[in-house]
Amino acid sequence: MSAGADFIPALLPREPGVPSYRWLASALRSAILEGRLRPGARLPGTRALAGRFGLSRGTVTTAFEELAAQGYLTGEIGSGTYVNRVLPDDLLQVKRPAQRTDSTGRTRIPPSALSDYGRRLVRLGSSEPRRPRAFRTNEPALDLFPARLWAQLAGRALRRGETILATDGEPLGYLPLREAIADYLGAARGVRCAPGQVAIVSGVQEALDLTTRLLVDPGDRVVLEEPGYDGAERVFSAAGARIVSVAIDGEGMKVPSARLRDVRLAYVTPAHQFPTGVAMSLPRRLALLEWARRAECRILEDDYDSEFRYSGRPIPALQGLDDGNTVIFVGSFSKVLFPSLRLGYVVVPDDLVTSFEAAKSVRNRYSSLLEQLVLAEFIATGHFGRHLRRMREIYAERSGALVAAVRRDLAGRVELAPVEAGLQTTAWLPPGSSDVTTAELAARQGLEVTSVSRYCRATPERQGLQLGFAAIDPDEIRRGVRKLEAVLDGMRT
Ligand SMILES: Cc1ncc(COP(=O)(O)O)c(C=O)c1O
Repeated sequence: MSAGADFIPALLPREPGVPSYRWLASALRSAILEGRLRPGARLPGTRALAGRFGLSRGTVTTAFEELAAQGYLTGEIGSGTYVNRVLPDDLLQVKRPAQRTDSTGRTRIPPSALSDYGRRLVRLGSSEPRRPRAFRTNEPALDLFPARLWAQLAGRALRRGETILATDGEPLGYLPLREAIADYLGAARGVRCAPGQVAIVSGVQEALDLTTRLLVDPGDRVVLEEPGYDGAERVFSAAGARIVSVAIDGEGMKVPSARLRDVRLAYVTPAHQFPTGVAMSLPRRLALLEWARRAECRILEDDYDSEFRYSGRPIPALQGLDDGNTVIFVGSFSKVLFPSLRLGYVVVPDDLVTSFEAAKSVRNRYSSLLEQLVLAEFIATGHFGRHLRRMREIYAERSGALVAAVRRDLAGRVELAPVEAGLQTTAWLPPGSSDVTTAELAARQGLEVTSVSRYCRATPERQGLQLGFAAIDPDEIRRGVRKLEAVLDGMRT
């Protein structure tokens, strides 16, 4: 059976005074010319169409006959009526209403048709997937993920179909997963929470967006590290917040001024500052908490890739040091597992749990249940812990390869920040160098290095390149460093 036989197309409404057979013929003609009824598609029977639109079968037959005479339809009694496979040339020249499209063929909506929020979003653009290259940042070694095992767990979850099909999800997430995350965070990150405070979200990005919508009104101040995570900046800018940039030193983000008023949220990455890699010291953590309490400002602690620590003792999360409701703690499975999983979590302070639940429910009800079930199983059966340990070893080897290659080939030209944790580090350039130009020249050599300036609102005093080491193997790292050496040599001449 051809496509279309089971579906009655949506037709333009009938205007008063137009005979019904003419309306039906004209509406079907538009559906054909606009491609909603494709060449070769079978039309519903006269009985079905008549019943659907409250017409007599004779009226439908008359409309079909008119369209057949004009070359739009073809049909034989008993075998149904079809859209002609070859439409006459002159019919095909009938134009669809003009639409403005961009270079990707997407229809553009004139800015005047968008809300303030929509206009801000269009200016910010969206992050696009890119193919991996050396020194890709923010990406784990996706080729080493146990994909077959994951598929087996997914298959098992689907075979227990009734769980997936008959269960409606909870806005805050699948309880066994929330329990597993609460246990893991307590043991590994010093986070203090009950499973009821853990909300499952579609990545840190959604956590940032939900938190901002709940706490920040247009014009409110938010504190952001400088340099800082562009994903957070985009959310704050889209919300119309006023961003207050606070500098980083060797102990992490500095404590904002006590005179700063009306700050609703301070976004920080204490475990491994993004993008510089600095770990926030314990005294700085305590001082920041004290400031936030006095300023009545919530702290959004992004713990994004703290799972991978290669040296030094992990400092407990800010959340674990907070004896009030100041800290909202967020984390992601994008780095530990794979980014397209789109799962992360928020440890929500007690007083915000109900609001979070409502916000998540309004936004998208809940995150996909199948992925949550598979992940809960992956953790419960010990695979998560094993994968983490294995990847930590591999990334330690890769970061070691980067440190050795930079020491050998780039000595005196860059200063590599110590690699204590995470998936990337920063190569600081000598004073007077431009990291943007260096990154552009490196891109021409097939390298992917991100300038620190990209994460700054003002021109940074110290410029550098963010170098990822996790997604590429040691040979590729060494090749990349040699190419970078050639780029830096070329800039000197
Ligand atoms: C600082 C920071 N936080 C969080 C994330 C993860 O975001 P998501 O969970 O939305 O993938 C990233 C990813 O690049 C990041 O760099």
